[in-house]
Parts: sequence; structure tokens; C-alpha cells
Amino acid sequence: MSDIKTLAIERLNILNPEYRDLIEDIVVANKKIYLSLKTDKSQVDKFTKIKLQIEKELIGIDGIDSVSVSLTSHSDSKKQAADPKNITKGISEVKNIISVASGKGGVGKSTTSINIAIAINKLGFRVGLLDADVYGPSIPKLIGGKQKPKISKTGNILPIKKYDISLMSIGFLVSEDTPMIWRGPMVITAVNQMLNDVEWGELDFLIVDMPPGTGDVQLTMAQKVPMTGAVIISTPQDLALIDARKGIEMFKKVNVPILGIIENMSIFICPHCNKESHIFGFEGAKIEARNKNVDFLGDIPLEIDLRESSDIGRPIMYSKSDSIVSKKFLDIAKSVVNKTMSTSKSKKPNIIIN
Ligand SMILES: Nc1ncnc2c1ncn2[C@@H]1O[C@H](COP(=O)(O)OP(=O)(O)OP(=O)(O)O)[C@@H](O)[C@H]1O
Ligand SMILES: [Mg+2]
Repeated sequence: MSDIKTLAIERLNILNPEYRDLIEDIVVANKKIYLSLKTDKSQVDKFTKIKLQIEKELIGIDGIDSVSVSLTSHSDSKKQAADPKNITKGISEVKNIISVASGKGGVGKSTTSINIAIAINKLGFRVGLLDADVYGPSIPKLIGGKQKPKISKTGNILPIKKYDISLMSIGFLVSEDTPMIWRGPMVITAVNQMLNDVEWGELDFLIVDMPPGTGDVQLTMAQKVPMTGAVIISTPQDLALIDARKGIEMFKKVNVPILGIIENMSIFICPHCNKESHIFGFEGAKIEARNKNVDFLGDIPLEIDLRESSDIGRPIMYSKSDSIVSKKFLDIAKSVVNKTMSTSKSKKPNIIIN
């Protein structure tokens, strides 16, 4: 990957030596080049032409399927120097980035993200979790409270470590009272910073807890974050499924492989009489997965224990690892790992976890 980065920078240098100084950020992942250019708002036309010129040039690099150049404009930029040595990205040692998404809000993305992150770690992998929900960050609450990240010697942010997971959320960086009046572009900048200015270190998996919806912000984020694949969460009910479909389409649009669908709140077993109820419908997400020709990764029941453990910041996968729900999360984690290994066409051996 780093060879392609160097090659891309060399090509820009040949195209026009001045372009090299415009590079703010360059990430290569899954045969895609993501490049952000420092631009001047008053010269949009000029920079749009440069963007097209660069995209045309870089798509010619062997082994690259797509190039995405974004134009950014900041008043404060501590990354002025475009020396390739300075393009040390927080995620350069992250092998797989998996986003957990849904079209609809409140269907359990954050709950699933933290428990799957812990489950994948229990399988022996190094795992990080990025809370990309800048408007409504959930991860601080889910891990039992806010902590203040430390700064490394090189001036980068060190992720919070809890439950053996490296974590980052805007909720760790701003006070709860700060109104989240972020406009779209600022959201992307915040996510970029959490990816690039955080020393994630060597990770096998970085799970990204996506914000709800499939608007421009989510779409740009899906383009900006070099994702290996996406996991879609849905409840079985029609309303959630309509939005899940939109989520699938959104990732398809930006060529991010769908690893599969998880059905959350699929069944409720009454703790008093053991009677099964299908509060949000029955097997809707499973049927949808079949219709859309994507894998069904498993189902999670609606369970008081899961909600309570989340509310007190002790994820069930950690606090009650023998519970039925935790076993479900572990099975789903195995499927996610196996799917990732077969999706990312890397030369790594295919890990089969039974
Ligand atoms: N299977 C489940 N059983 C019981 N409660 C659940 C389950 N899944 C999620 N919840 C609860 O539902 C609520 C919403 O879950 P969560 O915050 O994970 O959803 P989300 O999709 O991330 O929401 P948002 O779209 O707002 O980010 C939380 O209170 C959570 O504890
Ligand atoms: Mg959430």
C-alpha cells in the first residue's frame, strides 16, 4: 500500500510539482486511493479542475480501481507540510475497517458495534472501535463513562483503552454540554481527525459505528473511510427494512462490499412464562438478506439484560460472556471475521474459525 502512496505522490509531482504541497491526506486501501487536497474556497473552479486532472492521473496506477479526491478548506491546518514523511496516518497499520450501519436510527448499531468489537477481540484479534456518530456519540456511555484521551509524544491523540479495545469518540473530546451544531463538512473533518490524528497503532479490525441514515454525510463518510466491508443492522419490521435497503444501496454505490445483515430484536422470550413473541415481526431481515443476495450473519434477541448492561456501561459480551446473547455475538463475530478474510483479497491465509 505504501508503495502505491509513494507512486501516487510521485505522479502528482510530475503532473505539477505544486500539487504535492496541496496534499492534506492520502490513504490507499482496497484498491482505492482517497486523497484530500487543501484548497482555497475562493477558487473553487480552479480546484475542481485540479481534482479532475488528479483523478484522471491516479486512476492510471496499476492495481487501483477508483480514486476519490475531496477538496477541503481549513483556517487551521497544522498539517501544512506535504512532505510524504508527514503523511503518517493513524490508520496506516489497520488491516480491516468494518462499518456497522443501518438506514434507520435506534435499531442497535452501537450496541452491536461494541459487543462485536469485544467478541472479535476474544477471538484473538487486535480491535479498535471508532464512534463515527458525531451528532449523537454512544460509545462513552456504552463503556461506562467519559474518559479524557492522552496526547502522544508526537502530538497525536491516543485512543482510550477499555475491555481490551482501542476506542475513540467525539464524546471523549468535547463536553456533553457542547451543542452538536456540526454542519455536514465539519462532521467529515471530525471523522477524518478521529481516523488520522488518533494513534490507532496495529489493529486487525477497526469497527466503525456509523450514524443513522443514508444522507450525504453518511455517503461521504462511506467514501472517505477506506472500508473493507459493511455490516447492516435491521430489526425484522418493514420500516427498518426499507431503510436497511437504502443502506445496502449506499454502500454498493461506493463499492464497499456488504459482509451481511444482522437481525436485531428478532425475538423476545418472556422471562416469566418463556413465551416467544415477535415484537418487531419475524425473520424480516433474514428474508431481506436472501432477496438482496447478501449473507445473513445472525440474529440477536430483544433482551432486558442486553439493554441493562449497555445502560450501565458494562457490555454484555464482557460482563456476561456465557449468556445466550453473548454467544450469539460471538457467532456473528466469527462470521464477520471469516467474511472479511474472504472479501479482502489480500494474500493473508483464510482464517476459518469454527
Ligand atoms: N437486542 C436488544 N435488546 C434490548 N435492547 C436493545 C437491543 N438492541 C439495542 N437495544 C437498546 O436499544 C437502544 C438503541 O440501541 P443503539 O443505541 O445501539 O441503537 P443505534 O442504532 O446505535 O441508535 P442510533 O441510530 O441513535 O445511533 C439502546 O437503549 C439499546 O440498549
Ligand atoms: Mg448509535
